[in-house]
Amino acid sequence: MQLLDELDLRLVKVVDTHVHADHITGMGALRDRTQCVTVMGEESPADVVSMRVKDGETIDIEGISLEAIHTPGHTSDSYCFRLADRVFTGDTLLIRGTGRTDFQAGDSRDAYDSLFNKLLVLPDETLVYPGHDYKGDTVSTIGEKRAHNPRLQVSSVDEYVEIMDNLNLPNPKQMDVAVPANISIGASQEAAGDDLAAWSVSCEQLIGWIDSDADLLIDLREDNERARDGVIEGSVHAPYTRLTQFVESGGMLRQMASGKRLIFYCAFGERSALAVRAAMDAGLDDVCHLVGGIKAWTQAGGPINQINPISR
Ligand SMILES: [Fe+2]
Repeated sequence: MQLLDELDLRLVKVVDTHVHADHITGMGALRDRTQCVTVMGEESPADVVSMRVKDGETIDIEGISLEAIHTPGHTSDSYCFRLADRVFTGDTLLIRGTGRTDFQAGDSRDAYDSLFNKLLVLPDETLVYPGHDYKGDTVSTIGEKRAHNPRLQVSSVDEYVEIMDNLNLPNPKQMDVAVPANISIGASQEAAGDDLAAWSVSCEQLIGWIDSDADLLIDLREDNERARDGVIEGSVHAPYTRLTQFVESGGMLRQMASGKRLIFYCAFGERSALAVRAAMDAGLDDVCHLVGGIKAWTQAGGPINQINPISR
């Protein structure tokens, strides 16, 4: 928070590489303080994050594009994220080490495949930023790892499995606290007390009850999510990361809202819950959101329109 303040930056997205066993993630606290978007891989057991990505998809942040690479092994939900010349490897690939594979659905055969077939195939000069390093190093390269990482000097998957199965490491001290805390990180989707009914709408309430004269559905998701999962008919697209400008005086939603109830929705209900608060703070009062987002809507049998990715 201090660094953001000093550099005059706005935190837009926080990406966790996997559910950590050795510390409590800062993701939920950062979201609560900055209203940023939280991102993890689709395999993550975390209860609610704002966006989930699959292998090969990209995370876009104002001209920067991170490629998501699913690298199971350390945990089943581990991802690495690649920019053009660098890769953020979480605990999958460390400096002179690799992530242990003995808990959280870790698997040393999967880890071997992730390391050798997904990471070491990157160009030698690719910079590698691991999630952490106990000696204080922060960056290495794929070439350096290929040559000097002792865990990678093996000639077969069986040899790697043999090493990993015989590490005999104690469990992380914080594991019993950290894992449950890191799985239960979603923002509250319901207001406390009397505001509850006015603030949140369930899929069951909304299906078949959308009154296009009185309601305006707002889709807060990004282009790739809309193309992948479809949209609710008649909804207006207003990406969450630009919400502030839409709800301020003279903003698009401000103008469209006149006399209508705004119903925000997103992928899982986290961005839309944050959006209700932001819209109320900006002075809009007839706003609510769809609990559980498009995922819950689809599961409840709500109709979905596929959009043509070319015309989006
Ligand atoms: Fe880890």
